[in-house]
Amino acid sequence: MTDYADTRARVEHYFDRTATRVWDRLTSDAPVSRIRQTVREGRDRMRAIMLGQLPQDLAGARVLDAGCGTGMMTAELAARGADVVAVDISPQLISIAQQRLDPRLSPKVSFRSGDMTDPALGAFDYVLAMDSLIYYRAGDIADILSRLGERTGDAVVFTVAPRTPFLMTFFTLGKAFPRSDRSPTMIPHAFAPLSRRIGPGLSRVERVSRGFYISECLEFRP
Ligand SMILES: C[S@@+](CC[C@H](N)C(=O)[O-])C[C@H]1O[C@@H](n2cnc3c(N)ncnc32)[C@H](O)[C@@H]1O
Repeated sequence: MTDYADTRARVEHYFDRTATRVWDRLTSDAPVSRIRQTVREGRDRMRAIMLGQLPQDLAGARVLDAGCGTGMMTAELAARGADVVAVDISPQLISIAQQRLDPRLSPKVSFRSGDMTDPALGAFDYVLAMDSLIYYRAGDIADILSRLGERTGDAVVFTVAPRTPFLMTFFTLGKAFPRSDRSPTMIPHAFAPLSRRIGPGLSRVERVSRGFYISECLEFRP
């Protein structure tokens, strides 16, 4: 298997089987531990930053929510008037996202389970990929952006795990003590080497660091 196919298979297994319930709860209003609460707050802030890169009024815009999970971003995009394609490799999460969506927004959203780079999803004005590329190597991220970029008019807004000392320690420990299950490992990236791989068009937006949630928003204009 290629790196990409192997990572994607691990991601699918993790979100579709191992972590479906945890993810369902984290992305709901249900009470969570203090640590997970910091993650929730950080994720709320990141969602707002990413949405801030798009016009407020998205009427008439086609937007791909790439790796939509339980559909938190999807719902916000549809509420702003976008026509959203929400895709995720985990059928279970797609089903949760479908159940959660306000029925009044349903006509604005088309849910698909599958690969975010599938050309059959069509062309878009914007692509948002919140925390869905954090498990991939730089070469895979560059390939994903190139494939998505071919079909994106304005921008691909996405996040990576930045190379902070905390995340690097986590990453190094993970390599030293590999987990026995098939869960994916988050791979931290520094901006400069990633930018060399991806080429012109990549810029930094903002980093969020809230408790255990550390993520950096980047934008790619093809
Ligand atoms: C950390 S979750 C984030 C979900 C959602 N974007 C959010 O922020 O709530 C990452 C999601 O990306 C999805 N994903 C990862 N790689 C994917 C791929 N190649 N194609 C489609 N979905 C993918 C996973 O299944 C998972 O639901």
